Amino acid sequence: MIQLTSVSKSYNRGAVQAVKGLTLTVEPGKLFGFLGPNGAGKTTTIKMIVGLLHPDSGTISVCGKDALKEPLAVKRLVGFVPDSPFLYNRMTGMAYLRFIADVFRMPVEARERVVPTLLKQFGMEDAVGSLVASYSHGMRQKLAVMAALIHEPDVLIMDEPISGLDPLSAFQLKEIMRGYCARGKTVFFSTHVMEVAERICDVVGIISKGELVACAPFPVLKKQLGEQDATLEQIFLELTHAEQVFGPDSDYRP
Ligand SMILES: Nc1ncnc2c1ncn2[C@@H]1O[C@H](COP(=O)(O)OP(=O)(O)OP(=O)(O)O)[C@@H](O)[C@H]1O
Ligand SMILES: [Mg+2]
Repeated sequence: MIQLTSVSKSYNRGAVQAVKGLTLTVEPGKLFGFLGPNGAGKTTTIKMIVGLLHPDSGTISVCGKDALKEPLAVKRLVGFVPDSPFLYNRMTGMAYLRFIADVFRMPVEARERVVPTLLKQFGMEDAVGSLVASYSHGMRQKLAVMAALIHEPDVLIMDEPISGLDPLSAFQLKEIMRGYCARGKTVFFSTHVMEVAERICDVVGIISKGELVACAPFPVLKKQLGEQDATLEQIFLELTHAEQVFGPDSDYRP
């Protein structure tokens, strides 16, 4: 469970209000997709949840633990894929995975059980012995995803994890996310791919200009807006870009 209560964050001494009074609950077992235009505040929100940024105000808890007061406890629970992962170029992929497993104090037997499965799922068996410096963009992304999954976290938080993945890896990751939810874990990911969010998410949250403009299962969202036949893309555009898409005279107002 992830709970944000009235969370705000600004940059440049208040000049940029990135997140404004965000209140949001992500329940275990319900795959949560976080959507929003570029610059809406998704990455800022995610960084606050995982403890990389401190909110100006408001509270964040992860599985009942306060992100500010118990940052280490929260980090232990969470697997995190950042938007631009930092990886060590001079390590092999395998050395990096072992290093991350050690950071999470995984027993060697558990690591040896999990790693081969992940390598197979993401087609990285051959590449894992090579230096990270030699990896393509997608291979780096796969390594970041595997590193987040290695300790089988109770809470999985991923910032645009599908971007750059090939179709098979994207499929595998979606299956893994659904599997985590089926086991009662909490999964929160951001994406710009509306079709993915519409198809696999139990709940979608839409943030625009730092504010949550919608948060509900997609069928409920359609009902709330009275648009039974709409796609998530249409609803997203209405809620976030009404004026550009429908013109200044559009009577639709989020
Ligand atoms: N380090 C920073 N310093 C100043 N402003 C920042 C910083 N990081 C983000 N911002 C601003 O905060 C706002 C929210 O940015 P954020 O990165 O959270 O958006 P996002 O929803 O993740 O966007 P994207 O879809 O492009 O990844 C934007 O206006 C951005 O310019
Ligand atoms: Mg972002």
